[in-house]
Amino acid sequence: MSSQLHPVTFLSADFGQLINLLQDNSYDKIFILVDENSMQHCIPLLMTKISDLRHAEVLEIESGEENKTLEIAEQLWISLAEQGATRKSLLINLGGGVVCDLGGFVASVYKRGIDFIHIPTTLLAQVDASLGGKVGVDHGVLKNQLGLFSLPNNVYIDPSFVNTLYIRHVKSGFAEMLKHGLIADKKYWSKLFALEDVNAKILSDFVSRSVEIKMKVVSGDFKEKDIRKSLNFGHTIGHAIESYSLQHDTLPLFHGEAISIGMVAEAFLSKNKCDLSETELTQISEVITRHFEIELPPADAFEELWQLMQHDKKNERGKVNFALIRSIGKAEIDVNCEREEVMEAFNYAKSVFK
Ligand SMILES: NC(=O)c1ccc[n+]([C@@H]2O[C@H](COP(=O)([O-])OP(=O)(O)OC[C@H]3O[C@@H](n4cnc5c(N)ncnc54)[C@H](O)[C@@H]3O)[C@@H](O)[C@H]2O)c1
Ligand SMILES: [Zn+2]
Repeated sequence: MSSQLHPVTFLSADFGQLINLLQDNSYDKIFILVDENSMQHCIPLLMTKISDLRHAEVLEIESGEENKTLEIAEQLWISLAEQGATRKSLLINLGGGVVCDLGGFVASVYKRGIDFIHIPTTLLAQVDASLGGKVGVDHGVLKNQLGLFSLPNNVYIDPSFVNTLYIRHVKSGFAEMLKHGLIADKKYWSKLFALEDVNAKILSDFVSRSVEIKMKVVSGDFKEKDIRKSLNFGHTIGHAIESYSLQHDTLPLFHGEAISIGMVAEAFLSKNKCDLSETELTQISEVITRHFEIELPPADAFEELWQLMQHDKKNERGKVNFALIRSIGKAEIDVNCEREEVMEAFNYAKSVFK
């Protein structure tokens, strides 16, 4: 799949396209960034398909959102320097959204930028995080606070990588797929809506449609001045809930789980601010609660959530801006909502998830 921004390549059985990339570029050194799970489940297949990569240097981080930090980025810059990475080196990010976001950031800043590719190994990273050139790290309590728009040379997808994911991680990716339907494609939404149950195998058939939607939206607006903001549906409230959970919970919510709550709350805002129909709001709440069993932050957490929302990157002139939907498949951006309206939406989500 080619786009003005970066190609997305679905790998053939022999990983031939990736072998070609390595042959066409004379990289002096190749580094592969992994976490312990992509190390265990994904490196063996990659090395089997491309035996030359056995000479690559493997950089391993600990898994989890709490490691998408500047401190870990710094450790990686030190490792790259110690192991002789130059401007002619390549970084391969083999992992989920954390590895892709962090590795893309590390590569983009190291010596003012070296080549990097993503090989996303979670569903969420295949349909969303690896695409579109947003890279970065969290800072303090704020998600993706430090980062840049920086394009990978290519994104290589092998849907079989996701077969070893825990179901909670599969569903986390499913949340972003639902979002793609909600903001851009009612037919796609209807197909996802019809799924009684989801697992990695069932969802692998839908990966390419999500990739198409995300790449189309991003290609028209790389720097997120306009329509790219629609991809943030569910994320203003969702990111606040994710940050809250990372701070307060022993077992924090995953990104897609937090976003699924955010989508229910923001669908409620969409009804009040953009005339989303009651029927569609109910349908959205129904499908999300069918697939996600999540405990929401307590009611008295709202003030902290609202404070976190004040830092959302879409805000302008002190106002909290939302990307909402007018109807399923039609996005509306730059909708300003007041504190009371957002609180009502949060309470609605709490009543729906119970
Ligand atoms: N840059 C963007 O445009 C963008 C878009 C959406 C999300 N994101 C970011 O993506 C991150 C979430 O991504 P994620 O859900 O992939 O999280 P993740 O990277 O933490 O991966 C989830 C879990 O799956 C494990 N894992 C990875 N591959 C595996 C495999 N093949 N088999 C078994 N386990 C495997 C990981 O080790 C981790 O424990 C968040 O940081 C979010 O902010 C970025
Ligand atoms: Zn997301």
